[in-house]
Amino acid sequence: MARQLDEQIVGRYPVGQRLRVLDVGMGQGTQALRLARAGHQVTGLERDATMVAAAREALSAEPEGIRERMRIIEGDGRDTGVHFLPGSFDVVLCHGVLMYVEEPDPLLAGLARMLAPGGLLSLLVRNADALAMRPGLAGDWAGALGAFDTTAYRNRLGLDVRADRLSTLTATLAGIGAPLQAWYGVRVFTDTAADDTGTPDDMETLLACEERAGRTDPYRGVAALLHLCGVRG
Ligand SMILES: C[S@@+](CC[C@H](N)C(=O)[O-])C[C@H]1O[C@@H](n2cnc3c(N)ncnc32)[C@H](O)[C@@H]1O
Repeated sequence: MARQLDEQIVGRYPVGQRLRVLDVGMGQGTQALRLARAGHQVTGLERDATMVAAAREALSAEPEGIRERMRIIEGDGRDTGVHFLPGSFDVVLCHGVLMYVEEPDPLLAGLARMLAPGGLLSLLVRNADALAMRPGLAGDWAGALGAFDTTAYRNRLGLDVRADRLSTLTATLAGIGAPLQAWYGVRVFTDTAADDTGTPDDMETLLACEERAGRTDPYRGVAALLHLCGVRG
């Protein structure tokens, strides 16, 4: 997923240009830190105080040059208009967040407004079109049957959350002025792996398979997660 994001950034901006990046729902800040280390000016917005503290601690261990390039704000992704001016970012990430947002459209519209013209909106969402895959591959037939006509699911943490359909998000992105430019499947083969499975010996080959499937029809359509890239017109 990081590679796909970098590919989109490289295809859009000259190498070495310092981009203004907003990471909404940054969690512990893994992506945000990675992009700050790559030389970009990164703002992380996160509503959970524990996550904010973890991100601040991780940042404090970085060299001064990187610390100066990153700021962390505690707040809700639906309130970007309170914190920032419209058009003030080149890249807006919203990864693994829409699952927790009951009404994604206003949040997405707000994120699109934060983008400068030509800016990139990167979304990582649970794929509602493939919700039956996980229970189905586990032999839970009742669970699989119940997963076809819904966007609701229970995640591994036991939380009742929601997934998004590619067709719905495609229409939403067009409607908010950031039409879909590219999309990828993420975790096509590995979604059913147990959390305590160690790192496999052939990790590199596994990643190559995932990477290939995530870009290839029909595999990408049944991925557990979708990575969508919209571009502000
Ligand atoms: C699954 S984590 C993903 C973290 C990170 N983006 C990543 O990809 O690793 C989801 C994060 O989104 C945050 N979050 C959920 N809803 C949010 C909202 N409305 N505004 C800001 N952060 C939110 C949660 O607190 C959590 O840290």
